[in-house]
Amino acid sequence: MDVWILESAEAVAVKAADLCAELIERKPDARLGLATGATPQALYAELIRRYQLGQLSFSRTETFNLDEYLGIGPQHPRSFHRAMRDSLFAHVDIEPVNSHVPAGDSTDPAAEAAAYEALIKARGGIDLQILGIGRNGHIGFNEPGSSLGSRTRVKTLSRATIRHNQLGRPDFEPPIMAITMGIRTILDARALLMLATGAAKAAAVAAALEGPLAASCPASAIQLHPAATVVLDPAAAADLRLTDYYELVDEARRRLTIGRS
Ligand code: PGA
Repeated sequence: MDVWILESAEAVAVKAADLCAELIERKPDARLGLATGATPQALYAELIRRYQLGQLSFSRTETFNLDEYLGIGPQHPRSFHRAMRDSLFAHVDIEPVNSHVPAGDSTDPAAEAAAYEALIKARGGIDLQILGIGRNGHIGFNEPGSSLGSRTRVKTLSRATIRHNQLGRPDFEPPIMAITMGIRTILDARALLMLATGAAKAAAVAAALEGPLAASCPASAIQLHPAATVVLDPAAAADLRLTDYYELVDEARRRLTIGRS
């Protein structure tokens, strides 16, 4: 695991945008896995900024979102599909046909989940999957207790997640089920990029990075991935025990860069 502890949430977004941009420059038809939620919003704003400056194009890029609420359609104001349109898709040159989100309004959600899993595979797999982390250690909507071998499927949300999703939205009764990529689906991506900012994530981040590999903390599955990068601000990194080592790695990385230039 490549752990970066940066000085601020803004620096986390810039680093994440650098990693996405490097991939898209190297491979314009890259397949990018996307996440919703508060954490990646600054990353999406930075990607839009770079697109507007002409530094980045998504014209051949394909995206796959992690999850979607069950029972609401892509036009619903609280759907993840709508959130992605508002925060990224509508502002860059991505082809609508190339941005995939599970259909939450499918009449056969199990079949939709299986088709989504098959589509990812048929398109050649995800090159870089962006992940947030829930306060309870979930990734996507893989709640604590999710099988580490799970594939895209219908999942019931935890009470904590439902409560969190409703915060500040008294008008919204959040669905209690979702279609989500499974943990195994996520691990199949060629590279993972987990982002976390803020003190509310500190315990989950510590459990995911330094706790035991366990279904009770689905994000701990990233320990199995050979190419996982985790980018944190100091608040989200506050409960880590190996910080001294991550700092040493950072120093070694800088020496290597200086040695090369
Ligand atoms: P957040 O959600 O970015 O809104 O905190 C992260 C997640 O639940 O995966």
